[in-house]
Amino acid sequence: MNLEIKGLVQRFGTTTVLDRLELRTGDVRSLVLVGPSGGGKSTLLRILAGLDVPVAGSVVFDGVALPRDEPSLRAYRRTVGTVFQAYNLFPHLTAMDNLLLPLMQVHGLSEPEARARVREPLERFGLANHAHKRPAELSGGQKQRIAILRALVVQPRRLFLDEPTSALDPEMTAEVLEMIGELKDLGTQFVLVTHEMAFARRVADLMAFVGEGRVLAHGPPGEIIDRCDAPRVRSFFARVLP
Ligand SMILES: Nc1ncnc2c1ncn2[C@@H]1O[C@H](COP(=O)(O)OP(=O)(O)O)[C@@H](O)[C@H]1O
Ligand SMILES: [Mg+2]
Repeated sequence: MNLEIKGLVQRFGTTTVLDRLELRTGDVRSLVLVGPSGGGKSTLLRILAGLDVPVAGSVVFDGVALPRDEPSLRAYRRTVGTVFQAYNLFPHLTAMDNLLLPLMQVHGLSEPEARARVREPLERFGLANHAHKRPAELSGGQKQRIAILRALVVQPRRLFLDEPTSALDPEMTAEVLEMIGELKDLGTQFVLVTHEMAFARRVADLMAFVGEGRVLAHGPPGEIIDRCDAPRVRSFFARVLP
């Protein structure tokens, strides 16, 4: 993907959350957003995913500007996948039905087509034996992997993941990160917000440091984590790195 963001402004009431944010990624498969809490990462990701419309500015993905009107945004959202921190699975449905529902109701597949679509990914990610369970019967890591699969089986152009492991203990975090790493190897494009710096370093083609509503630094992850000397960036890594 090639992402170009110009003059992006978002406000909630009188608070300016994104302050003329700029970013040009060049051609990358994965963009990882890092930075302090409250810096604007989720706000930015929601705009990129077509869930919110900014007050001002433009977002261009692969030469195509994000629309601002609701019907076009709805169409855009069908072409991307989103995963958030809290697994938003339907609690009353089995994992399998959580996967099948969007394929059938949003993307118009028949039930046999939808079942055929999910079979291989369920196997590949070791979830086939859990497909009959409801969310309450799954571990946090399993729930989040089902949520990622659900975003994936609609074959989106790209995935948006907002701190997908922040509600998980270390072991479950590892299994979800491993899955995201595998997706990258399979060619899936994504924008990821995470605090897992070791993983971010490994998986990011490009890292953008978001703070105070702007991109304060961007570049290869090693350059941002180890060598960026912007004071806000340094003080953040001094706090979060072991
Ligand atoms: N819907 C909203 N209404 C009001 N304020 C919001 C809303 N969403 C985010 N904010 C505020 O915007 C700022 C940036 O939030 P956010 O994008 O969630 O940051 P991050 O994801 O980097 O922690 C915070 O101060 C937050 O309180
Ligand atoms: Mg956030």
